[in-house]
Order: sequence, then structure tokens, then C-alpha cells
Amino acid sequence: MTSPDNGPAPAGPPNVDLYTRNGFSGPMATIVRAQYSPAYTAVRGTYAPHRLDVGDLSEGAFTEGRSLPVAILEGDGVSVEVSRRAEPSAVAFRNVLADEVHYVLEGEGRLETDFGVLDVRAGDMVLLPRSVTYRYGEIASPLREILIVTESEMRVDPENAPGVLNVDLHVDAPVPDPAAGPPGDYEVIIRHGREFTTYFYDYDPVPCLATAGAPVVRRFNMENVHGLGVEKGGLMPPRLLNDSSTRTLVFHLGNRRSDRPPVHHNADYDEVIFYVAGPGNYGAVDRPGTVLWTPKGLIHHGPEEEVPEGYRAFLLETRAALSLTPAGRDIGAVMETGQFDFFEPRTPTTAAGPAS
Ligand SMILES: [Fe+2]
Repeated sequence: MTSPDNGPAPAGPPNVDLYTRNGFSGPMATIVRAQYSPAYTAVRGTYAPHRLDVGDLSEGAFTEGRSLPVAILEGDGVSVEVSRRAEPSAVAFRNVLADEVHYVLEGEGRLETDFGVLDVRAGDMVLLPRSVTYRYGEIASPLREILIVTESEMRVDPENAPGVLNVDLHVDAPVPDPAAGPPGDYEVIIRHGREFTTYFYDYDPVPCLATAGAPVVRRFNMENVHGLGVEKGGLMPPRLLNDSSTRTLVFHLGNRRSDRPPVHHNADYDEVIFYVAGPGNYGAVDRPGTVLWTPKGLIHHGPEEEVPEGYRAFLLETRAALSLTPAGRDIGAVMETGQFDFFEPRTPTTAAGPAS
């Protein structure tokens, strides 16, 4: 890995910790130590790396009938949420204060929006900017989604396009569909922060006849996202979604040719990795739907990313200070930061041996 300020970083051993400002874009510095610093014996307090399996959320965590998403991490206008949807609903949603990125973990359905309809399937990442109304009109198989909700303005803006993601070929937008639902009662739930206000209609308010102008809702499938590889040395993961304020960024983190990432601490960004599909493991992670959260400033390593069997993952970096919600605490477990395994506390030791 090359630091713009300090030249090439020395390679271990002994052990090199990379300190970075502003995520992948700021100045970097290295610290050489005899010790391997991600390892810890115990942690007391809430500021700890966690792994969460969204499949562990109980049915009771979801609001009956309306299928409102459940936040597992949140803070400073950014949240990570999970939604399940087994049936279509006449209820539509419009988030007026935040952009939403929906990743379809499993299932298949028809997403109906102000700008038309999209048939979505597993692996789809859909950007629903604020103030766009949407609902799921048809569910071919039950949908489970991971949502990144942010007050930032998000844009599909892949780095190293078209190699990583060909925007012309593989990013699309909804298609207008004038078909309206039958006369009857319809609702639009306006989400404004943590509050909800419902509007009622006696006609279907969602369909459109035509749209023009810049595409607003955007969709691509992760199967069309490719890693770039190098023979040796580090390579930053390529960005998929951009935010001109640099507050909330999404990167591709799937299998790629590279060295194992360095031990590092990210001074300004919480890192949230979403392992969403195999067949390969990502370190100690093998269950799709596993969320790996490392709060900013914690020294961590992370597993090898070059996995011959392949896997799908992406990374949210946010300047927001996230914390676990009550639902997140229910399913979260403290994580070690070498292979992202469950943390096993050990008896604290001193240089002289086990503490008494
Ligand atoms: Fe990291």
C-alpha cells in the first residue's frame, strides 16, 4: 500500500498498523510495533465491534402488516435496517428526509415507484432517493432486504467503471406502468426521521404514465460488479455509491486479487461490511446476511479477501457514529477483528502471566 505522504508502507513483520484519515482518501501514517495490535482479551462497554446475522431477527421484530423496516444500527442521520415482506401491500412509503439504498438479500418482487416499476431479485441494489414513493406490488417469493438509510444524497457512481460496473449496460431505472390498482383505500406513509405520518386516498396514487429527465431511482445487480485485482500489494476497494459530502460511501468488497488488508485504524469512518452471498467464506463468516460493524478508531485487520470460491460483500463507510439499536443488541455479538469471528473472552494476562 502506498501512502501519498510517507511513501510505501513497510511490510510486516514485525507488525504495521496503518492509521488513515478520511477513509481511503486522506493522509495515512504507519506505526511499526512488535505486538499484533488488533487482538484484545476482553472489552467492557458498548463501543465494541459486533457481528449481526439479520436472519436472527424474530418475526415479532417486524410491524404487523405494514412491514416497516427494523433498524439494527443507527446514529447521526444514518441507519442500517432490515425489512421482510411476504405479501404485497397497498401501503406505500416515502422517506422525505433520507435517501434509501435497498439491497435484496433474497426473494423476488415488483417494486412500484413514482417513476415506474422494477422487478427486483436477490443481488439487486436499488437507490431510492428521498421523496420518492414506493411499495412492493407483487411478491413472487418473500423479500428480505438490507437498507442503508442516510440523510446524505447518494449517487450510483462506481470507481473504475466500466471495469467494476458498466453503468450503461448494468444500471437501469424503473419503467413507467400506468396500470393502477382498483378503486379503494390507499395509504402513503411519509417517513420523517423517526416519525411517520399517513396520507389516505380513494385512488391509487403511485402509477405514472411517463417520466423524463435525469434518472432518479437506480438499480444494479451485484453479479455485474467486479473486483479489480493486482498481483501484489494493497488495492482500495472500488466505490459503488458516492456522496459529495463524503459522509456515507458504499464500496464493493467481494472476492478480488490482492494482499490481505493491512492492520489499520480508520480514524473517521465506521465500517460496516455486509456479507451477502457465498459460496466462499469471508474469514470466519459464512452466513449470507451477516453484518460486520467496526466502529471508527478501533484497530482491526480483517480476513483475506482473495477467496478462490468467490463471495459477495459490500462495505458501508460512514462518518456517523453508529450504535446498536435494541433490535441490533438482540442479535449482535462481540466480534474479534482478525477473521471477524465471534469474540471469545480470555483471562486477562499481564507480561508476567495470568492476572490474579
Ligand atoms: Fe477496515
